[in-house]
Amino acid sequence: MKYKSIRGMEDILPGDIGAWQKLENTARKILESYGYREIRTPILEDTSLFERSIGESTDIVTKEMYTFKDRKGRSLTLRPEGTAPIVRSYIEHALDKISPELRLYYMGPMFRSERPQKGRSRQFYQIGVEVIGTRSPFADAEIIAQLDKMLKSFGLEDFTIKLNSLGCMADKAEFAGKLKKYLEDRKKRLCGDCKKRIKKNVLRVLDCKNECCVQVAREAPNLIDSLCASCKEHFEKLKGILSTTKTKFVETKNLVRGLDYYTGTVFEITHSALGGQDAIGAGGRYDNLVKDFGGPSLGAVGYALGIERIIIALKAKGQAKSAETTKILYVATMGDKAKIEGMKIAEEIRRECGLRVLTDLKEASLKSQMRTADKNNAKIVIIIGEDELKEGKAVIRDMARKEQKSVNINSVVEEVKKGAIC
Ligand code: HAM
Repeated sequence: MKYKSIRGMEDILPGDIGAWQKLENTARKILESYGYREIRTPILEDTSLFERSIGESTDIVTKEMYTFKDRKGRSLTLRPEGTAPIVRSYIEHALDKISPELRLYYMGPMFRSERPQKGRSRQFYQIGVEVIGTRSPFADAEIIAQLDKMLKSFGLEDFTIKLNSLGCMADKAEFAGKLKKYLEDRKKRLCGDCKKRIKKNVLRVLDCKNECCVQVAREAPNLIDSLCASCKEHFEKLKGILSTTKTKFVETKNLVRGLDYYTGTVFEITHSALGGQDAIGAGGRYDNLVKDFGGPSLGAVGYALGIERIIIALKAKGQAKSAETTKILYVATMGDKAKIEGMKIAEEIRRECGLRVLTDLKEASLKSQMRTADKNNAKIVIIIGEDELKEGKAVIRDMARKEQKSVNINSVVEEVKKGAIC
């Protein structure tokens, strides 16, 4: 039987990994420059962690989580997102004692059992940040500006940052009441799911992609009108800071999120290259979650980007370039003695020159090794045959120029270092 990967869970092959590494390396560099520190949490968590934070009636919790019982009967879930595990870890390790305001970032796989399609998989990767310990709009502004800068550094241009505010819990409740009333009167025009959502999770109706619901939502009451004075002030201040820092955004009426923990600022980044699944990232404030999980009363804000979707957007512009710029050098050898000598030389070149050095692992013929060097795009081949070895010599061949020269075996590394042949 031939095995295949699980539907919706894809292999990232060596030919594609360069674009991923480039993205991850750029993100790491930028995030570290903003003072973010990396955090890695386990892939499995207690199921109730997600139920309580993301929300019992959300699509993620009701339909999409990979939940199972372990051998002791405990209910565990493959993390569908990174925020809840990080808040769990923050409280468990009292990270607020380390710094009153913590900037954290993470990269890694998330799991949601959604119907796979372009830009939507069941195992997907996120790069995310969480800033825990502040309620200031300056924190919202910094992460949005940082995100904007990072996406541009990846080579993306045609993205839109959509911005809105859900208000505090009281504002959300007030708006939910207004929206319920509005939708009850138009219930007949809604899709089956949204009819149920009116009772269970009314804000989600605003996020439904069905044309009938989109039309009803267009005329719905505006969330912004339900904001209390303090939430309104926060939102106005945030928009002011973003405008001053020249971070472009589009205030988007009734933008809501699919996770219940959000309060206040919410945002989503979309890209036209993606079609149906056009959000390349999203985030917002979750000022009640730390306290809800039994921690101190601290504000927090964060976002997560979907790596696969960013790569699709970059590919659409022909910009998903590989990070593999390091030159490759191949050491071709014949006979055991030459192979051992070749291994030593390869090791020295790796240490001294920072090149990628490949050697023959198959005891293949010299001709076949030259073909392998060519296929691997080697710039230089060092040839050590039995005859060369007897004379204490090696050949250095420049593959592009098709030139070669014989040098003393003890000076091979020096010659490569001089780069005369490169
Ligand atoms: P989210 O909107 O659920 O937010 O996911 C963030 C991003 O992950 C999406 O915009 C999308 O790019 C990517 N994504 C989500 N589901 C899939 C999928 N099935 N296949 C491919 N990509 C996907 C969160 O996860 C929040 N934890 C973000 C956050 C952090 N909020 C505050 N801090």
